[in-house]
Amino acid sequence: MGIQDIPLNDLSRGIARDGDALELAYKSVLSSGWLVMGPNHDAFQSELSAYLGVEHALVVASGTDALELAIKAVMPEGREIVLTAANAGGYSTTAARRAGFRVRYADVDTDSLCLSVESVTSLLTREIGVVIITHLYGNLTDIEALVVLCHSFGIRVVEDCAQSLGARRRGRFAGTFGDISATSFYPTKNLGALGDGGAVMTDNREYADKVKQLRQYGWSTKYQVALPGGTNSRLDELQAAFLRTRLPQLDTFNARRRSIVAQYAAAAIDGPLHVLPADGEHHAAHLAVVRSSRRKELRTRLAEQGVQTDIHFPVPDHHQPGLCAPAQSLPATEQASVEIFSIPCFPELSDGEIDRVCAAIGNLR
Ligand SMILES: Cc1ncc(COP(=O)(O)O)c(C=O)c1O
Repeated sequence: MGIQDIPLNDLSRGIARDGDALELAYKSVLSSGWLVMGPNHDAFQSELSAYLGVEHALVVASGTDALELAIKAVMPEGREIVLTAANAGGYSTTAARRAGFRVRYADVDTDSLCLSVESVTSLLTREIGVVIITHLYGNLTDIEALVVLCHSFGIRVVEDCAQSLGARRRGRFAGTFGDISATSFYPTKNLGALGDGGAVMTDNREYADKVKQLRQYGWSTKYQVALPGGTNSRLDELQAAFLRTRLPQLDTFNARRRSIVAQYAAAAIDGPLHVLPADGEHHAAHLAVVRSSRRKELRTRLAEQGVQTDIHFPVPDHHQPGLCAPAQSLPATEQASVEIFSIPCFPELSDGEIDRVCAAIGNLR
């Protein structure tokens, strides 16, 4: 048998590592008889809010649902536009549309690939009710100035932490800077379930109460529909129990991810690949993203050396016909979309595999 390719991700390794704990969690849910909104659901919410240092963490069925419910909970009366980035995989556009609002895009910063303060500043109007800030690839972006700016227009800030859970700056976590935040527990995420899941976080009691009602049909109490726009979005007991076994490992996983990116960055010095840095606690290193104007050729050369790659994300939202987004010119977003690609980065990569990726990067010179 030939030498194996180095996968972009391999979920079976994390499942094998956590096998005993996951089995115990599974058995305890089965014997409890609770399947939905039981003790694991409540305990995971408490553990997540304690970890993040946020008043309320409300778990839901996916990250996209979390974004949708967060937008619905905070959109100011009479406003109907969500401003966001077009390079974050379409999730915020999908969520804003499902929430019943229109979308407009700001351009991204050429280095961080997160929303550019200048671009947002030039676009803010009082029609915009919500700005979604995605901490893309795990990077807790420079968010404080954006929050102040948005608030001066009466705009609410939703943070998308689906790729950045655990990232922090001076002890303050991604997801605690804006008015409300959303995350995903999709299996490949830094904190991954064994299926779909998500959460909404906020310090604001009123927003938390709205999300609690919206995730369960708009009910105030059972069968009493008090709030319009409700849906069914719950995290089941099994996923909550699995996530409880993994949350205590999140910081270790994130540190391992950062160390992988740092090794790639060192290997890429003086070569044709620019590795986006992930050097510090403000970065959860969800993906190892590299950039080159010779993307096609370099991906082929890496593939020849057994290194799998992918693109996050190849088509910006405003060029996706199915998202029906407005025609806009976003030069930095468009340029990045033809240059970026991702190389293997997950905590269970072996040291030998990381060395092989580094050698392959070195051979590109
Ligand atoms: C930045 C970002 N936001 C939102 C989502 C949506 O999460 P989900 O797949 O759980 O709906 C994802 C990932 O899938 C994501 O990467």
